Amino acid sequence: MKHIISCEQFSRSSLEELFIHTDDIRNNPGKYSNSLENKVVATLFYEPSTRTRLSFEAAILRLGGKNISTENAKEASSAIKGESIEDTVRVVQGYCDAIVMRHYDKNSATAAASVATVPIFNAGAGSGEHPTQGLLDMYTIFRHKPGIDGITVAVVGDLRYGRTVHSLVKLLTLYKNITIYGLSCEALALPQEYIDYVEEHGARYFACQTFADVPADVDVIYQTRTQLERFENAGIEIKEFIIDKNVMNRFSATTLLLHPLPRNAEIASEMDDDPRALYFEQTHNGMYIRMALLDGVMNGTKPN
Ligand code: NCD
Repeated sequence: MKHIISCEQFSRSSLEELFIHTDDIRNNPGKYSNSLENKVVATLFYEPSTRTRLSFEAAILRLGGKNISTENAKEASSAIKGESIEDTVRVVQGYCDAIVMRHYDKNSATAAASVATVPIFNAGAGSGEHPTQGLLDMYTIFRHKPGIDGITVAVVGDLRYGRTVHSLVKLLTLYKNITIYGLSCEALALPQEYIDYVEEHGARYFACQTFADVPADVDVIYQTRTQLERFENAGIEIKEFIIDKNVMNRFSATTLLLHPLPRNAEIASEMDDDPRALYFEQTHNGMYIRMALLDGVMNGTKPN
């Protein structure tokens, strides 16, 4: 794998190799501390980010690499002067050995890869995909439900613009006998292209209207933020599904609660001490997944 653009690139075996690689990095950090020696990685962010940018940059530094960064590339790079993504990549790759890019255009990662001579890591492409988040979400699920086959997952909230959901549902289909429940208001329903993808890859998808439509023994609830910044039509009517203790009491003691963060009101802070709440563990897992991806792609270390 030369670039990380979409979750469609992964097979079950490459995903499982990535988990093994990630565990090895986590357990033996010293073994990897010079993996990116003499390598420079650029982090080019055209949209706000806390976790993704800082965990990528921490991953680069922990692997012994160096980082050049523009955290506000929409205003602080030549994009504001009208430069295309392709031209920016042609220039920046002359300074570095890989580019991590987040951009508001859903086709940005594909456009970048089309001219790239260095690996491109998609760190979020508009309302399209966010593959490294999907991978860290799957890794978090794997750490708690190692078999993954046969699990049921409720994705909740903004399924239309939430790129992390788009990546997660694609990865889930790599496993057998997967059932996905989509709980959202109609305006934020999962786009048909993702429902088709899920069903064509052998998983079941059920659209839900209330929490009562989601089975009480569901294995994972994946809550998301309403992506207000992506709304094309300001008049769009939405309903949010808040998760608090009262809602979680309906679900089993083994139902995992995930969220890519940042959260607004959709998960009440009273949930933070609940052992089922894994959102802060996800953020930590993200750094290790990104270390494994950087090492894998840039050094040809498995799984790539
Ligand atoms: C997500 C994103 O940027 O898509 N954040 C993240 O990377 N953890 C989710 C969001 O912004 O709601």
